Amino acid sequence: MEVIVTKNREEMSKRAAALIAEEIKRKPNALLALSTGSSPIGTYQELIRLHREEGLDFSKVRALNMDEYVGLNRTHPQGYYYFMEHSLYQEVNIDKANTFGPQAAEGNPKEEARRFDEKIEREGGIDLILLGIGRDGHIAFNMPAERLYFATHVQELSETAIQDNARFFDNVDQVPTKAMTIGIEHIFKSRKVILIAGGKNKSGIMERFINSGALDTGIPATVLRLHPDIKVILDEDAASDLQGKKG
Ligand code: GLP
Repeated sequence: MEVIVTKNREEMSKRAAALIAEEIKRKPNALLALSTGSSPIGTYQELIRLHREEGLDFSKVRALNMDEYVGLNRTHPQGYYYFMEHSLYQEVNIDKANTFGPQAAEGNPKEEARRFDEKIEREGGIDLILLGIGRDGHIAFNMPAERLYFATHVQELSETAIQDNARFFDNVDQVPTKAMTIGIEHIFKSRKVILIAGGKNKSGIMERFINSGALDTGIPATVLRLHPDIKVILDEDAASDLQGKKG
């Protein structure tokens, strides 16, 4: 696992964007799995800049959302598809037909979860996944638990995750209590993994994740410790509880 500590959130975002741009140039129709939340916003802004100023071409790129709140459809402003559409898709030349995600508001959740996993298989698997991390160590919406599920599934959200995501809603009661999330298998099978974390509120979990000597389902991100191609990009605040990692 390569741990890269950058000066600040802007550098963290640029570093991640540069790696994504490199992947798109290497494989113009790369399948990217993109994360939501506040962490990747700067990365998407930098990708938009690279598109506008340096002609980074998204025309063949395929992109997926890895999770979605149950009950919110694709057009809901707090939904994750809407987030991706507004944070990146509509600002670059990606073909919307090449973007997808779990549609947790529709039909039978088990069938929808299977449809989503089959679609990822059919597309040939994820080339690059950009992950954030929750303060409790969750990735996408795979929450700390005794069991981590391989397949896409519906997940009850932890109190921490609900509280943390409340800032995107008018009040905490509006935060859905369940989400459909990509499972551990497709995350782990992604050919390249980038995990980004910025800010002091991520320093504790980054210390636990990076110094963990074991697979710990209480910190779902620890499965990534076994991944052969993972880069963890932090800013100095998120790295502040690590020893000997600065610079
Ligand atoms: C949500 C998302 C995750 C994201 C996490 C951290 O729970 N499902 O994909 O990594 O939030 O969000 P933030 O980057 O806002 O701290």
